[in-house]
Amino acid sequence: MKVKNTALNKVLLIGALSLLTILFHYLYGMSGSAVLEAFHRRLCYIPIVLGGLWFGVYGGLATAAGISAAVVPFIYLHRSMGHDFVSGELVELLFYLVIGALTGVLSDAQKRQRKRNDELQEQLRASERLSTIGELFAYLMHEIKNPLGAIQGAADIVADTSVDPRRKLEFAGLLKSEINRLSRTLNSMLSYTRMKLNPGACTITAEINRLLQLLRPQAEKNNVRINLFFQEAPDIQADCDKLRQVFINLILNAIEAMPAGGKLDIAVRRKDSATVEIVFQDTGPGIRPEHINSLGKPLFTTKPAGTGLGLAISKRIVEEHKGKLLIESKPGEGTVCTVRLPCNV
Ligand SMILES: Nc1ncnc2c1ncn2[C@@H]1O[C@H](COP(=O)(O)OP(=O)(O)OP(=O)(O)O)[C@@H](O)[C@H]1O
Ligand SMILES: [Mg+2]
Repeated sequence: MKVKNTALNKVLLIGALSLLTILFHYLYGMSGSAVLEAFHRRLCYIPIVLGGLWFGVYGGLATAAGISAAVVPFIYLHRSMGHDFVSGELVELLFYLVIGALTGVLSDAQKRQRKRNDELQEQLRASERLSTIGELFAYLMHEIKNPLGAIQGAADIVADTSVDPRRKLEFAGLLKSEINRLSRTLNSMLSYTRMKLNPGACTITAEINRLLQLLRPQAEKNNVRINLFFQEAPDIQADCDKLRQVFINLILNAIEAMPAGGKLDIAVRRKDSATVEIVFQDTGPGIRPEHINSLGKPLFTTKPAGTGLGLAISKRIVEEHKGKLLIESKPGEGTVCTVRLPCNV
């Protein structure tokens, strides 16, 4: 709908400019004023060039042909001015057509080049994704093999009739926790590889408030104080479930970075007319400079029980929304994670 409207606006603008130039031609074409005549002759090229730029060779030619056709009666009316006048005017019309076609050809070539670049970039992204999936696959094998061994051992003990029931209970608990770990890893992998957005209206502040009801107990356990700075921000078209996943990852990272307590400020604000910004600023230990470039790469973690997929998934979700995830950190001072999302996805 939006695309059609822009095309329609462009056609209307070219039409209006063409009418204006034709009017000028009839009103001032024979005014005798060198300035007015020079002006009106150059004016004709503006809609023709715009037609070629916006609608390619056919757009340029159609605009040039339309203006030429409207100018022909003017030439005919003033044919008594002599052979020089008529041929001069006809040469001008020929140039309208040449300039229209030339601009159109150049603009078409540029569009084709842009399309080719987009395709190349998409291919590059696909091959990057494939190599990441290869890495993830190796990681998955490793992550499944270890708990499977533990599950096998625990299941043997649970099934052994000679083992004391209290010990069996203990191993049944181990079985459950290993299965949970497996399921958590598989879910993270699925989130990373299967990224289909399901957009709808999303009120970011409401989503964060809802999340915090779940996460506050964890923050309190680590003695982390959470402050909210919500400003007027528009609802956005986005996949709320996926964005919630991003916010959970960033809040959990901040809480986990401050096991001995600290402060997490969460701000939601409009950055400019087209962008909403969500900022998570913690007072944790920060990130070591040598780790900054690894952030957001799958499997990078400094935590013994981390999967290293939290930021990678978050980055992908934000990028799928045509947004940006920025991370700034100063060791000893804290970390600032900023999510920027366009208001209209
Ligand atoms: N707010 C933060 N403060 C300090 N370090 C951080 C912060 N956020 C991320 N990091 C660093 O980035 C690493 C990667 O984070 P990411 O969320 O991708 O994985 P993880 O938290 O280690 O594991 P998972 O999210 O799977 O539990 C973390 O291990 C940590 O070293
Ligand atoms: Mg994390």
